[in-house]
Amino acid sequence: MIDARGRPLHDIRFSVTDRCNFRCVYCMPKEIFGRDYAFMPRDELLSFEEITRLARLAAAHGVEKIRLTGGEPLLRKGLPDLIAMLAELRTPAGEALDLAVTTNGSALAFLAQDLKDAGLKRVTVSLDSLDDATFRSMNDVNFPVKNILHGLDVAQKVGLGPIKVNMVVKKGHNDQDIVAMARHFTDTPVILRFIEYMDVGTTNGWQVGEVVPSADVIARINAELPLEEIEPNYTGETSQRWRYRDGGGEIGVISSVTQSFCHSCSRARISVDGKLYTCLFASSGHDLRALMRDGCSDDKLSAVMAQIWRDRTDRYSELRSLNTKRPTDGTQKIEMSYIGG
Ligand code: GTP
Ligand code: 5AD
Ligand code: SF4
Ligand code: SF4
Repeated sequence: MIDARGRPLHDIRFSVTDRCNFRCVYCMPKEIFGRDYAFMPRDELLSFEEITRLARLAAAHGVEKIRLTGGEPLLRKGLPDLIAMLAELRTPAGEALDLAVTTNGSALAFLAQDLKDAGLKRVTVSLDSLDDATFRSMNDVNFPVKNILHGLDVAQKVGLGPIKVNMVVKKGHNDQDIVAMARHFTDTPVILRFIEYMDVGTTNGWQVGEVVPSADVIARINAELPLEEIEPNYTGETSQRWRYRDGGGEIGVISSVTQSFCHSCSRARISVDGKLYTCLFASSGHDLRALMRDGCSDDKLSAVMAQIWRDRTDRYSELRSLNTKRPTDGTQKIEMSYIGG
């Protein structure tokens, strides 16, 4: 299935909850996501059956990868049951899907074994600093680094690898920790990826001056730990890969701001309430939940999904770098916790 710009649909990401126990300054700032913030009521969330149904139809259309995100996906009650349902799906060639979860890692130590047993293949863990004070100030709920590192260890031990660690770099907040992070994960199987701080949603007060370009990240690491670039694993990979010249492993940079990768973007996102979004920066989605709850047949639902993808023209990051004006100025972009990271 190819969109209007020739891009296949390869990857579907479901946000399974809009809630999170962290209040990362770049994602769910406390001032907005406070005590009285109205999260989605339970009956508005897609059920596990609805998620699995959409994933099954997507797999029939050629999707090979399912990623569960949020919010914090491990907060969704019964998550291992959903994993078990998704693990049974097959591609038309009879292969299991690549099933992954992006988590803040806070509950990983408790849930890693259950997730593995249910059929989860791998996890990606967000970790913005190894310095406890910096990490606590970025998650803004005073959560300590050591618990995340313990969660990573447990995930590793139960075989949820290769594990990736995502560090969102925000200038003046955690960029002083780039090299220490890189050093910490050398000679381990963990693949550390540095993400440019993005203008997702409207609540994080994003300013271009707070972005540390990936080229700077690489230069800073390379000065101490020499690097060389390596080929992508697959077309459309978000991350540009580098490896240590001394054999100490691999890192990546995700440069949505300075080097957009829209030209090969093969990702669709399903929000927590079942809207299909064809871009992380979209301002509106297509309500698949309404169709499902109105008794729509598989054939019809599948045809609707296919048509939405065929009509897709999104390339927000590309436009952002071409224009000085932000492409959706004046419209409401969707928050990452709702649409999924
Ligand atoms: P792999 O399956 O391991 O290749 O991971 P991935 O890179 O697809 O998934 P991950 O959730 O780790 O993505 C890393 C981060 O890249 C996300 O959390 C986002 O911050 C960013 N990202 C992912 N997809 C997109 C996208 O389509 N557009 C933009 N602008 N950023 C994205
Ligand atoms: N810019 C870049 N990355 C972000 N993430 C959340 N918000 C942003 C943002 N504004 C990252 C998280 C996590 C993934 C889901 O997306 O840190 O690794
Ligand atoms: Fe929660 Fe992840 Fe957003 Fe942080 S980035 S607030 S951990 S959903
Ligand atoms: Fe894909 Fe939109 Fe991100 Fe571009 S900005 S890579 S089209 S999700």
